[in-house]
Amino acid sequence: MNRLPPILRDNLALPVIASPMFIVSGPDLVIAQCRAGIVGSFPALNARPAAMLDTWLTRITEELAAARAADPAARIAPFAVNQIVHASNDRLAEDVETCARHRVPIVITSLRAPDAVVRPVHGYGGLVFHDVTTVRHAEKALEAGVDGLILACAGAGGHAGTLSPFALVGEVRRFYDGPLILSGAITTGSAILAAQAMGADLAYMGTRFIASAEANAAPAYKDMIAGASAADILYTPFFTGVPGNYLAPSIRAAGLDPDTLPTADKTAMSFASDRAKPWRDVWGAGQGVGTIPDVRPVAEIVAGLAREYRAARAGLAA
Ligand SMILES: Cc1cc2nc3c(=O)[nH]c(=O)nc-3n(C[C@H](O)[C@H](O)[C@H](O)COP(=O)(O)O)c2cc1C
Repeated sequence: MNRLPPILRDNLALPVIASPMFIVSGPDLVIAQCRAGIVGSFPALNARPAAMLDTWLTRITEELAAARAADPAARIAPFAVNQIVHASNDRLAEDVETCARHRVPIVITSLRAPDAVVRPVHGYGGLVFHDVTTVRHAEKALEAGVDGLILACAGAGGHAGTLSPFALVGEVRRFYDGPLILSGAITTGSAILAAQAMGADLAYMGTRFIASAEANAAPAYKDMIAGASAADILYTPFFTGVPGNYLAPSIRAAGLDPDTLPTADKTAMSFASDRAKPWRDVWGAGQGVGTIPDVRPVAEIVAGLAREYRAARAGLAA
């Protein structure tokens, strides 16, 4: 973890950032993740209305400070807020200002290159990590001055890329030796170690934490993840216009046939918004679902991942 800034190098129990997930990630999940020693994160847009972001940040900051004071030797990770940099996000300036006021340690930007975010976050000493799916976007984010890149590779939950992690990590490492965070179907401790072996510094894990007690997800969603395998994941632009990975059984439950979804998405989007909203009714998940056995509290999930990670390391060394 030598490429990492001190705030990450010194405070993680496991080299993991728990990724931000629309609707699913809120203060309960983030606090549990940070207390377990991995970075917890949430999309700013999950806090609604915008004024709620201030309330959430106050609670997260205070509870993590109290946990650190109660157990100074514990590895309690910093947290991150995700900002969607897109013309449709009319809260961006206000949310960035709120994050600056709370000195949010890490800001994760997605979609556009984050020029409007980098300066204010660097102004108070925060870090900006940008989410990319291609080499071109990685180059643009580095030009904008980000502190690290998140590579969203094939099989990731939500709006995923299509490149193999071997290909994208390898190409980005040819011109960038700063912090790299890898995502895409990472659900086990051995996969975390594999991400590092490949050249990444941290793993970025979303789906694994949907099946947690603290996630803001319906019990049926959590159970569906625990019962699914990669064959149940459908990659389609149908629901939002941007290709993403979804649980096929949730598409069926919404009254659609995942095997015959039209690829033209305009009509589908109006159908989706009338009868079955993406994310709320049609559930996102990555291809790593098949190794998620059950729904547990975050602390147990992270302890299990740490055991698997250590066993995988010992196995390689043997
Ligand atoms: C239900 C769901 C919602 C997501 N929402 C967001 C989001 O709002 N912002 C974002 O940057 N990424 C979002 N993602 C993508 C994740 O941050 C991350 O890239 C992905 O979960 C990693 O792959 P994995 O799920 O296979 O671990 C979402 C993913 C899922 C599964």
